Order: sequence, then structure tokens, then C-alpha cells
Amino acid sequence: MRIFLDTANSDEIRTAVASGVLGGVTTNPSILARENQPFADSLQHIAHIIGDNREMLVEVLATETDDMVREARELSALTNNVIIKIPMTPAGIAAAAILKTEGIKTAVTLIFSANQAVLAANAGATYVAPFVGRLDDITSDGVGLVEHIRHMFDIQGVDTQILAASVRSPQSVHDLFSVGCHVITMPASVFHAMYTHPLTTSGLEKFLSDAQNELVIA
Ligand code: G3P
Repeated sequence: MRIFLDTANSDEIRTAVASGVLGGVTTNPSILARENQPFADSLQHIAHIIGDNREMLVEVLATETDDMVREARELSALTNNVIIKIPMTPAGIAAAAILKTEGIKTAVTLIFSANQAVLAANAGATYVAPFVGRLDDITSDGVGLVEHIRHMFDIQGVDTQILAASVRSPQSVHDLFSVGCHVITMPASVFHAMYTHPLTTSGLEKFLSDAQNELVIA
């Protein structure tokens, strides 16, 4: 039930690291482009902030198997905790299978069906990444897909874990972990929203004001 942050913003990552509950960071070309820096600089910076005990997911930009494998080898040399994101294409699945034989961990991304997850698992991917919000956008059932994949992996004894992406609300986080999603990557706004509940806020205010009154009486 691990929490990853879906961002390349160093302030957001630093804050999440300080929270004590961050398991990793996921990036993609769109996320990296938002930071207006060379991708390599951003990745080095993120690796430095998250340290050795958290994972960093980085996507290959190549589209052919050989090029993907070459790029993955270079990216995996960045730090020892890089997971290579590979797009869900025939070339990508072939690359994931080769990388598995080299001990390089992969996350097959842009998963929108259970059969795509089956292919990724057979290639030996460490993670499959279904895009939950984008399925919901087209009135498909993102959480339902994750539940389906989890069921298939369990009855087949598959080690590949489900890393849900395109998660846009605390309700989705709740629903996804409830159906057995292993890892969720989320924007910082969703992560921070997980902390809040009005009864926690009002309860703490009452405790603090009662403690203040006690100090005044004493
Ligand atoms: O990790 C994938 C994620 O960044 C996509 O999110 O909201 O663009 O569907 P979204």
C-alpha cells in the first residue's frame, strides 16, 4: 500500500520526503517538461532528493526495442533505484522482456486493459501502470480495471505489482487501495488532501484550546 508522488517538482518532492511516508516518485515526459529544465538535470536532482531508499520511475523516449533497451541501460545507471517506464507497445513489451534478463526493473505504462497487463506481467515487468483517471474520463471504470488485474494476478500467482497512475482525487486513492492496488502515484494536491478531515481539525482545535485554558487556570 505504498504512496508515490507523480511529479518532477523538487519542492513538492522535498516536502513529501519530509512527510516520512513517501515510497517513490514517478515522472513522464509531460511531467518533466513542466519543470523547464533539461530532463537529465531534473532526474539527477530528484535522485539526490529522494536518496537510496525510494524508487524513481523514468520513462524511455525511444520507440524501437533496441533503442529502448539502450536508453534503459543508460537511465538505470543514474542511481541504483531507478525503475524504467516502458510504453505498452509490442516494441515496449519486447524491451521489458530483455531488460528483465539484465536485472533492470521496469514499469509498463499506459495500461488500459487487463490483457495489456497480462502481456506486461509475462515480460517480467516489476509494475504495470493502469491510468485510472483517463479511463474514468471516457466513462470506463478505472478502479474496476485495477480490481480485475489484481484478481487475475492473484489467481495466477503473478509477482508483478499494480502501480495506479492518473489518480486525481483522495476518493480514488481510497477506492484503489480498497481493491488491492499495491502502489498509487498521485499529484501532491491529492497526497496532502489525504491528511485532512474536518473532525480532526475541530478536534485538535478543542484539545489545544482546553490545554490553553488549563494553562491560564494554573
Ligand atoms: O502518471 C500518469 C499521469 O501523470 C497522468 O495523469 O491526470 O494526465 O491522466 P493525467
